[in-house]
Amino acid sequence: MNAQLTATPSNQDLDAFWMPFTANRQFKANPRLLARAEGMHYWTADGREVLDGVAGLWCVNAGHARREITEAVTKQLNTMEFAPTFQMGHPIAFELANRLAKIAPPGLDRIFFTNSGSEAVDTALKIAIAYHRARGAGQRTRLIGREKGYHGVGFGGMSVGGMVNNRKFFGSSMLPGVDHLPHTLDVEHNAFSRGLPHWGAHLANELERLIALHDASTIAAVIVEPISGSAGVVLPPLGYLKRLREICDKHDILLIFDEVITGFGRIGKPFAAQAFDVTPDLMTTAKGLTNGAVPMGAVFSQRKIYDAFMQGPENAIELFHGYTYSAHPVACAAAIATLDVYTQEGLLTRAASLSAQWENAVHSLRGLPHVIDVRNFGLIGGVELEPRSGKPGARGFEVFLKCFERGIMVRQTGDTIAMSPPLVIEPKQIERLIETLGGVIRETD
Ligand SMILES: Cc1ncc(COP(=O)(O)O)c(C=O)c1O
Repeated sequence: MNAQLTATPSNQDLDAFWMPFTANRQFKANPRLLARAEGMHYWTADGREVLDGVAGLWCVNAGHARREITEAVTKQLNTMEFAPTFQMGHPIAFELANRLAKIAPPGLDRIFFTNSGSEAVDTALKIAIAYHRARGAGQRTRLIGREKGYHGVGFGGMSVGGMVNNRKFFGSSMLPGVDHLPHTLDVEHNAFSRGLPHWGAHLANELERLIALHDASTIAAVIVEPISGSAGVVLPPLGYLKRLREICDKHDILLIFDEVITGFGRIGKPFAAQAFDVTPDLMTTAKGLTNGAVPMGAVFSQRKIYDAFMQGPENAIELFHGYTYSAHPVACAAAIATLDVYTQEGLLTRAASLSAQWENAVHSLRGLPHVIDVRNFGLIGGVELEPRSGKPGARGFEVFLKCFERGIMVRQTGDTIAMSPPLVIEPKQIERLIETLGGVIRETD
């Protein structure tokens, strides 16, 4: 499709692309096309400026079109566009792993590269199961996820995930031997909490119940998002993650944090593990790793896990897993340039200095029509609207659409509006984002 066609495309122009997680027919009848991006903004195909309230899709943490990243990618493409990492290596893959190890939570200094968050999750689940086998506990294969969890769309991530629409079409193809903790969203007890909710740490004790049911000796790992975005901003109650860590330690179960959205500064520290002072055994990341410029994911592993694999004959491949594009040179170049930008501009901690203003701004929406909860942490905000009777998601979608028409991009999950702006957002832009959203909510029935 050429640039001229993009402003007013015909149905035919839009037919071939089967869009992901999209109401294809509705979209194609009234397309929302983004054509250019820079800094905090997108521009639509018909030239309208749109303030980006979601960092693209929770990934463009340093803002759009960062010259430093573009130049590093161009240089790498001109130097070596591809190199395999199966039984071969290239220097910047090692450089990137070393750089990541330096900002990682304590001990998580062995890095496995993937191309997405979904692949990172499936990789971490496989590492967890294979780790237990490597140390002589091969019966530990059960995985525990959580209701409302989102861990991508691979068969592993889908199985440990807990969002019904992502699961129900694929019923019998789920991994066997998976169970779920209850989710931690409780509007009745915690509505309008500022930051982490105070009620609900005891929900972590449900893990003891699942252990009593299945026996610890069958369980490989528990996977949770420290904060979940996809289910509509679900926060961990105060003390909840620490309790999960204690129970996992007691029973020799690995704890996996899925930090695909919380990683790389989103909540004021490089990773949520550091912000909440709870260190997992494995940590999955993607999105902000390359500022969204090139697809890439990474699994951070405790050294003890890596070391458990490093046994047997030296010529034996220790883990039969990997992707053609694991540590793709162009992605590595993008990630290194991204880390440089994050470091030079203090972006891995900037959310901490903006979070008080952000919290006040987001909570100023309390009291508007149909607003039944407001949730926030770091530079994440969620506004839950009361569903229309018999039409779940309709009000949320209308608000999302009107916001886009008024020049702000937010994300809608059901009737929750989620926001996660680039970490370079300025205070005035926070005001504009929230005022526009407030105006739209006020005039939506
Ligand atoms: C917590 C979490 N895990 C995994 C994923 C999947 O990542 P990807 O879409 O890159 O496969 C996402 C995507 O939003 C996510 O939020």
